Amino acid sequence: MSADTASGPGTTGTETGQRTADELVAEPAELDVYDPRLTRFDLVREGARRKGIEIVHYEPRFPPGSRADRRMERVVASLFLLAGAAGMGFVVAYIWWPWEYADGATATSKFYTPVLGVTLAISMLAIGAGITTWAKKLLPHEVSVEHRHDQPSSDTDRKIMGATLGNMLDETGVTRRPLLRRALLLGLAPIGLVAAAPLVGGLLKDPHTNRTGEPGFNASPQDYTGWNPALNDEQPVRLTFENGSPIRPADVSVGGQVTVFPGIDHGASNEYADSPTLLIHLREEFAAELRQNLYPMNQDSMAGNFVAYSKICTHAGCPPSLFEQQTNRLLCPCHQSQFLITDNARPIFGPATRSLAMLPIAVDNEGYFVATSDYQVPVGPSFWER
Ligand code: FES
Repeated sequence: MSADTASGPGTTGTETGQRTADELVAEPAELDVYDPRLTRFDLVREGARRKGIEIVHYEPRFPPGSRADRRMERVVASLFLLAGAAGMGFVVAYIWWPWEYADGATATSKFYTPVLGVTLAISMLAIGAGITTWAKKLLPHEVSVEHRHDQPSSDTDRKIMGATLGNMLDETGVTRRPLLRRALLLGLAPIGLVAAAPLVGGLLKDPHTNRTGEPGFNASPQDYTGWNPALNDEQPVRLTFENGSPIRPADVSVGGQVTVFPGIDHGASNEYADSPTLLIHLREEFAAELRQNLYPMNQDSMAGNFVAYSKICTHAGCPPSLFEQQTNRLLCPCHQSQFLITDNARPIFGPATRSLAMLPIAVDNEGYFVATSDYQVPVGPSFWER
């Protein structure tokens, strides 16, 4: 029931007739609400009148059961069913759509996130459109005038309120429109599944599975990077430029640094987005300082005066690559964390709390840098699985 302070448009042809505000003051004696001859709507109207509300216009949008009424019912039902189908599409895509990274312009995995977004959007829009259409086209049109007052509710008022609420439920048509009731249920059930999908998804999909399909290599993607020798026939992985060419010590000047990638297929692609590494050529005195400070697990990880650190910030994953030679600090541009290169890339400023992971490196027989093993600790943000 809507309340207003003035009669609105369409107040002719009313069930109760049109009344002025002055007429509302002089009301007839109260009805006996326990009179069994009264209908529920009589109680609703009486309740409204006792509260100073006059229902001046009340009529259905379309004659119940008319063609227009049934057509609108079908429209609303179709919207709910569309919402349900889109919600089910979300769940199906969430479970079965290929989600693991695959290279190539036609890789379906690229559409995983867009498909989830589109199906969820259609589902939400359809359910919203269905509810709005129901309210605007199937609920009765009502205009009421209310005189406001402050009083607690009596038992009688509460009884009237109960009847009012029951009448409102009837007005929605849920009880007498089984098509809409079923469509609403069918539409809402998949949306409930959508809400549950992230909770139960981890039970359906195991991220700790073999990403590469390599025999004998069945590790979680979170547990290795592109530097793992298992990805290179158990051979140490070469450090390469982005174009895939290997790197010699002479390629990095003293005090300089370069971003390197694993020398494997797609090593510089998003498939190994956790692998970019900063190779730094330290000055002699700074290299000596670092050798003195090396954590036990980082012993033997340097190659001469060269050291390699993960380029994934341990705060939130940005690339800390602003290298300040004079202070030997590596700066992360996102939130200004600073890592001390001569002390295992320990964070000395900013929100990062963990050192950058150090990649064990050496120079192979042909004079190129290689990673002698994968990182010893997980790279990236501290909240990541460890
Ligand atoms: S991501 Fe590096 S400081 Fe926040």
